[in-house]
Amino acid sequence: MMSVLERVRAELVEFLRDGDRWKSLLIDYHPPIVERLWLQWNEYRVCLHKIHPCTIEEALMHPHPWPSAMLLVKGRYEMPIGFSRTERQPTILNKLMLVAGSSYEMIDSDVWHSVAPMGGAGMDRHGYGQTLGPNVTKQ
Ligand SMILES: [Fe+2]
Repeated sequence: MMSVLERVRAELVEFLRDGDRWKSLLIDYHPPIVERLWLQWNEYRVCLHKIHPCTIEEALMHPHPWPSAMLLVKGRYEMPIGFSRTERQPTILNKLMLVAGSSYEMIDSDVWHSVAPMGGAGMDRHGYGQTLGPNVTKQ
């Protein structure tokens, strides 16, 4: 998936020139609030996420049923990683702090994570505390 993410990164400016291809979705049923732009690209879904700050305790722990790869373009976030083969909350295995320029992939459907952008009440109008970056999911 990382090689696909690199291809998306190379094509992203071209994708952004074609505004009609993008769809939008506000994900606000659980923290963190996520503003999503997405488009279909071959067998992949390319998403741009703006993820709003929340605490690590609030952040939704979730699995990724499909292989995916993410690039953090701006901001930083805390990311616990867990493992569960059931719907029950996973056992947390690691906790990472990711910064702009970080990328990672999730390729096992039993791996879960949550993301908690740092910044909280200190967020300024330039978006400090929010994170922004593309991710690509095989559909
Ligand atoms: Fe996720």
